[in-house]
Amino acid sequence: MKYPVFEPDFGEAEIAAVTSAMRRGEISGIFGKSIAEFEGAFAGYCGAAHGVAVSNGTVALQLAARVAGVGPGDEVLVSACTNIASALAVYYNGGITVPVDACAKTWNLDLNLLETLITPKTKAIVVVHFLGNPVDMPRLMDVANRYGLKVIEDCAEAHGAEWKGQKVGSFGHLACFSFLSNKVITTGEGGMVLTQDAQMADEMRYLRSLAFGKVRFYHEVPGYNFRLTAMQAAMGVVQTARLEEVIEKKIDLYRRYQARLSSIPGIQLVQEPLEGRHVHWMVGLRLGPKFGVSRDRLRDHLATKGIDTRTFFCPMNQQPFLRRQAGHRDAVCPVADALWEDGVYLPSTTSLTDADLDYIAGQIRSAA
Ligand SMILES: Cc1ncc(COP(=O)(O)O)c(C=O)c1O
Repeated sequence: MKYPVFEPDFGEAEIAAVTSAMRRGEISGIFGKSIAEFEGAFAGYCGAAHGVAVSNGTVALQLAARVAGVGPGDEVLVSACTNIASALAVYYNGGITVPVDACAKTWNLDLNLLETLITPKTKAIVVVHFLGNPVDMPRLMDVANRYGLKVIEDCAEAHGAEWKGQKVGSFGHLACFSFLSNKVITTGEGGMVLTQDAQMADEMRYLRSLAFGKVRFYHEVPGYNFRLTAMQAAMGVVQTARLEEVIEKKIDLYRRYQARLSSIPGIQLVQEPLEGRHVHWMVGLRLGPKFGVSRDRLRDHLATKGIDTRTFFCPMNQQPFLRRQAGHRDAVCPVADALWEDGVYLPSTTSLTDADLDYIAGQIRSAA
């Protein structure tokens, strides 16, 4: 494809950081300074007291759910419109995912539904800042605190997003990030859990590295090998320093798309928060009935013109293995179902020029 959905933004500084970590012998996830440096820099940027680097965003969520106390039979409210990783975190801890339908305008979870879904079994909420759009976290935390629920923010798509000037990842009891190659910043693969709670951070550090005890090789509890390598952390330090620059480019890309797409009948763009900063990880849109063809027809047309696209996520209420799980609760999620049918995201590489966007928007217009 001439226009892939995304290409990562890194250069000589990242390459130099990785090679210099290698020259210092910092390659595994145990020795050297790069991991602590990355954790400190990224947590500091987000306004969290502690960062615990791990191998990817999926295991970050699994670890966070474990220290949040999610266990067998516990129900956890999860944004219906998300990557399966948000629900796997619950599943691998024995909990039951209860999907929360999306809001038709923000595409994030519908905050009005939270209280209707809480039962005595509810233990926690996994809230996703979808495509980089920040959820109204003070409102969500208010509900969680009233019911004594733990909150895990899934910030995999939302590095640097803000609600009233405060960064996502600093609101919940725990917050998880991904540094996969298509994310706002990347370490190839990688993840981090943030928390303000020193005890939870210590527990996660212990669990991520096989739960080694004071007596080496004597284990009180089952741990994991969720370690990030120091080489990746060295790349993460450089990427973190560049994060604001990348976000500015992402927002600029979105504005340039918006100028070209908003006048096309049937195209619906996301409602951005007045009180927040949407970082536009990917440029998404929904196709309404006024657009002449279906979303899949549009994707097929764009593919023939060298333009790669992705659908939004298949919602958690439709996932076969979750539906088969003992204790499964049926959930009705018409908005998340519709997003799966009519949502699409476009090439979102920040180096796309105005001419590239003219071409892509022109092809969308001609498909309608
Ligand atoms: C919302 C969300 N959560 C979690 C993940 C999982 O992160 P990773 O791929 O690093 O495991 C992703 C995507 O990769 C995601 O988009």
